[in-house]
Amino acid sequence: MSDMTHFQSFSNRNQLASYLAKEVAEDLRQGINLHGAASLVVSGGSTPKPFFEALKQEALPWEKVWITLADERWVDADHPDSNEKLVRESLLPEGAHFVGLKNSAATPAEGAAEASNAVENMPHPFDVVVLGMGDDGHTASLFPKAPELADAIAPDAPMAMGITPPSYAPHPRITLSLSTLLNTRRLVVHITGEAKQKIFEHACDPGTTVEDLPIRAVLCQDAIPVEVYWAA
Ligand code: 6PG
Repeated sequence: MSDMTHFQSFSNRNQLASYLAKEVAEDLRQGINLHGAASLVVSGGSTPKPFFEALKQEALPWEKVWITLADERWVDADHPDSNEKLVRESLLPEGAHFVGLKNSAATPAEGAAEASNAVENMPHPFDVVVLGMGDDGHTASLFPKAPELADAIAPDAPMAMGITPPSYAPHPRITLSLSTLLNTRRLVVHITGEAKQKIFEHACDPGTTVEDLPIRAVLCQDAIPVEVYWAA
């Protein structure tokens, strides 16, 4: 593991969610105090819901906060698998600005430039990025062996890129690129369960590659500290 990675274990998932919500709220407050506005990147999937529900309760001048997604499935915003739908229903507090990644283009590759522009207009660097991780070691939509993976982790990648996930993951995806995700004042990886803890422990082993476990590109870099929040 890189010296920049700090692992924090919680006694249960709800305790983790409340603690993370308080930390993120405090970071957003500081961002607003220092810069007049703050930005937050969140992930989809099933893990973040309790964190979203706790964060939504925080008293903040939400009209000064911009929220976007680390990645999105290329489905309409009312589709059950849409990350935007999850954020709108579980997190989005009144007044907060939401920047979605899905647009009217037919494919994520065709919609990526518009999504990049939208994200570029948010306050940068981000105040907080909260990533998840899949059981295959993907994070955001940086999937193992995706044909676009090398381009998405390149330092000069555009902010958002279309990704073709492996056949076990539904829907074409759009993802923020690695350099975009790392351009943040605080980076948290929020994971739960024993299987993900094992992946975390082995992500930086010699012989493991980013193509096998893309989370390695987040955990084993020394540009920015990473906090891993875990509960069984
Ligand atoms: C997505 C996510 C993705 C997620 C992991 C973990 O849209 O799928 O943003 O990167 O963080 O797949 O998902 P779970 O929390 O459901 O395990």
